[in-house]
Amino acid sequence: MVYLDNNATTPLDPRVADRMILFIKEHFGNPSSLYPLGQQVKGLMNEAREQVAIALGARRQEIIFTGSGTEADNLAILGMMEARPEKREFITSSIEHPAVLKTACYLENHNYLVHYLPVDQYGLIDLNFLNSVISPETALVSVMLANNEIGTIQPLEEVTKIAHRQGVPVHTDAVQAFGKIEVNVDRLGIDLLSLSAHKVYGPKGVGALYVRKGTDIKPFIHGGHQEFGLRPGTENTAGIVGFGEAARILMNQGRKDRERIEKLAGRLKAGLENSIKEIRFNGHPEKRIQSTLNYAFPGLAAGAILLALAVREIYVSTGSACSEGSGDVSPVLLAIGLNPELAASALRLSLGRFNTEQDIDRALIEVPEIINGLRENSNQ
Ligand SMILES: Cc1ncc(COP(=O)(O)O)c(C=O)c1O
Repeated sequence: MVYLDNNATTPLDPRVADRMILFIKEHFGNPSSLYPLGQQVKGLMNEAREQVAIALGARRQEIIFTGSGTEADNLAILGMMEARPEKREFITSSIEHPAVLKTACYLENHNYLVHYLPVDQYGLIDLNFLNSVISPETALVSVMLANNEIGTIQPLEEVTKIAHRQGVPVHTDAVQAFGKIEVNVDRLGIDLLSLSAHKVYGPKGVGALYVRKGTDIKPFIHGGHQEFGLRPGTENTAGIVGFGEAARILMNQGRKDRERIEKLAGRLKAGLENSIKEIRFNGHPEKRIQSTLNYAFPGLAAGAILLALAVREIYVSTGSACSEGSGDVSPVLLAIGLNPELAASALRLSLGRFNTEQDIDRALIEVPEIINGLRENSNQ
């Protein structure tokens, strides 16, 4: 198998799996219990909190574990709105993940005014537009750090400068950026930041929200006092411990991994562009996650390419896992100016820690063969 869909999810790192199995076997205590069985688990959870905090340049008390990246995004947006009931405006970009875009729709349906920042042909947001719509009525700005489909990296430092001048807090969905570029909360100047463990070789069903100390935020689900009262419910203890281990591994070998993965991605990119005639690269030439390659193949249907590759056990994606299967063309590709037909021909190949030179060798044989074959068939 050649797995080239690491933006959808990553394989669990065997070291994370080992850590989680050991933990599950030894620790069943509830971290809220005051006796040692519970307090040991609480201690291990706090170690994991520390690992995630260190990876972001944050403090342990600023990390709230959630049930997913989606939930972290919802907590950031709904929790900030809840804490500022007098402010009725929200600003986000037009190419956010559904976890943010659908939450924005929800706000619109509840009498909020939402401003969607337009993007250019590379997917970069319009900072002038942000300057023109931000006001004392704005409760929050939410702009993703890196796009899941095309990898474009947004100028978050500029966004936080503009917003903070107006006293408006900023959230970023860093689910795709974390582990692929350096993410430091102080350098970004960010107030809230979402993560998801399964994008960094950790388990599924666990995310985190960084909340800068002093930020006024309220829970959007109600219950016990867990996670500083912001995410009630008995914690996914094994998932959290696994997330901590995944963050620790990132700190140890993230930079080395990135260099290797970017080299592989560069070779794949050059090879595909050399061997396939009509191929259109989607995304920013430089300001992007190097391991994400998004291409449109004019005249072809992405679904047909995906299935033909899957038969040969090469796994790629036609868009984000969430919109895949919904039959819609990617709103991200439409927003950067592709027409619906071209957008429907686009594939995303995303690399990760466990890809090898042999994977790229095979992809460079099979992908052009399938694309060129499908084109010949359609010309007959
Ligand atoms: C940019 C972005 N945000 C949020 C999410 C959602 O994360 P999760 O799958 O943990 O809910 C994803 C997952 O695809 C993503 O790519």
